[in-house]
Amino acid sequence: MSSSKQQLLDQIKADILEMNICPDLAETATNLVMGDGNIDADIVFIGEAPGKNEDEQGLPFVGAAGKFLNEMLAAAGMDRSDVFITNIVKYRPPNNRDPLPEEKRAFWPYLLKQLQIIEPKVVITLGRHSMEYFLPDMKIGQIHGEAKRIQFGDHKIVIVPLYHPAAALYNGSMRQTLIDDFLRVPKVIEQL
Ligand code: URA
Repeated sequence: MSSSKQQLLDQIKADILEMNICPDLAETATNLVMGDGNIDADIVFIGEAPGKNEDEQGLPFVGAAGKFLNEMLAAAGMDRSDVFITNIVKYRPPNNRDPLPEEKRAFWPYLLKQLQIIEPKVVITLGRHSMEYFLPDMKIGQIHGEAKRIQFGDHKIVIVPLYHPAAALYNGSMRQTLIDDFLRVPKVIEQL
């Protein structure tokens, strides 16, 4: 099962290259960063876009925000091999600028395909850029940490929107809120 899942996931990467998605980003980026972790995971984390370290290593969340994410996973009794981690935009935007709406739109179908293959029970969005596609018109400040059930293709999926670890890293109160939300995630999942 997993090996054919891996082949399907590899095909998404090939499709992005073949379709020349976001050619401007592709030109300045070193790597197309597809994701990392367990393709049979129940939980998928979705960030914003690769940064400098991620672009260099070809893996998501390997810089400062990734270290913080790893610490929160450990505190919640998980590690990266228990979950799958990806981003909505899969090339690094120059100078780490915010991804543009058209960049998010261009990558969205490929993110959906990844989710259709992995079939997680829970999708955890990190920050507003990945949240807005699943929960349009909602404000992260109002709904962070809450499980939201949405119709996803022909089945329902649970979204838990969290603050982005990079935004929370150096902001004391947001950092504590993110840690508190994160530590509640196993309970949220248990109750599904
Ligand atoms: N921030 C993100 O949103 N994604 C990464 O992969 C790294 C930092």
